[in-house]
Amino acid sequence: MFKRLQNKWKVNSLQLVLIICTFAIGGSTTGFIAKKIMNALPINQDWIWVTLYLLLMTIIWPIAIILVSIPFGQFPFFIKYIRKIGNKMGIGVPLPSKMNPKRVAIFASGSGSNAEKIIAYFDSHPTVSIQLIVTNNFKAGVLEIARKNKIPTLLIDKNSFFTPDSCINELKMAKIDFIILAGFLWKIPDSLIKNYPQKIINIHPALLPNYGGKGMYGHFVHEAVIDNREKESGITIHYVDEVYDHGKVIFQASCPVWENDTPATLANRIQGLEHEHYPVIIEQVLRN
Ligand code: GRF
Repeated sequence: MFKRLQNKWKVNSLQLVLIICTFAIGGSTTGFIAKKIMNALPINQDWIWVTLYLLLMTIIWPIAIILVSIPFGQFPFFIKYIRKIGNKMGIGVPLPSKMNPKRVAIFASGSGSNAEKIIAYFDSHPTVSIQLIVTNNFKAGVLEIARKNKIPTLLIDKNSFFTPDSCINELKMAKIDFIILAGFLWKIPDSLIKNYPQKIINIHPALLPNYGGKGMYGHFVHEAVIDNREKESGITIHYVDEVYDHGKVIFQASCPVWENDTPATLANRIQGLEHEHYPVIIEQVLRN
């Protein structure tokens, strides 16, 4: 059960213990305060007492949980947790005014499975907000994902993207701080890189520096890995610079390549790694 919670909340064991402590202390504090208030009120009818007690608990609980989470160092987790509940109930829970979430754009050209995972991971996140989806492909699956998540989209064409202005104006207008490439097939123009230094990252479905560069995307990567009888492949998350798949490596994770692998089975295994790690690494990069 604890492992399941750890995976669901994407936290390590220590964090899980601190989160459970916060729930326990926040919950009992809520019960204690609500009872004290109720006992001070002259209410004789049981049903009114119980109704008011539950109402008070609902109001006090999020405040108590948030306050208790601070000394336990779990404030970011709980503000996200409570905002999520608020969103489900149709109540917008505002962030404390000092919290200024990083505004992120995702660039994608295809189905957008990574974009979808990233959007879900940062839903109601206190310090990261996915603000824009940029695509060069009007048929890209990522557009439907953006629509479902009510995220604005920007459709770009070659004529405007490969100019000195690129789409910098649009990004600045949307106050974008950081760019995530998730299956974006065009090379990022130098002007965009200069405007977002060390603020553009990409994920590549192989262990760079091998199997990267122009033309190395999607099944081409996996075919080459299998043709060369590699025993291992994986993912690389890296900063984007002026050269294809070349910027400083932030993170790599590997997986085996089996004798009977096809590009499709290998792609599947690698996609699992991407979904598991990309959102977590993005969070770490943005935190630093
Ligand atoms: C991923 O394999 C990623 O490594 C590469 O493009 C693919 C995008 O897949 N850069 P998806 O559209 O996120 O499913």
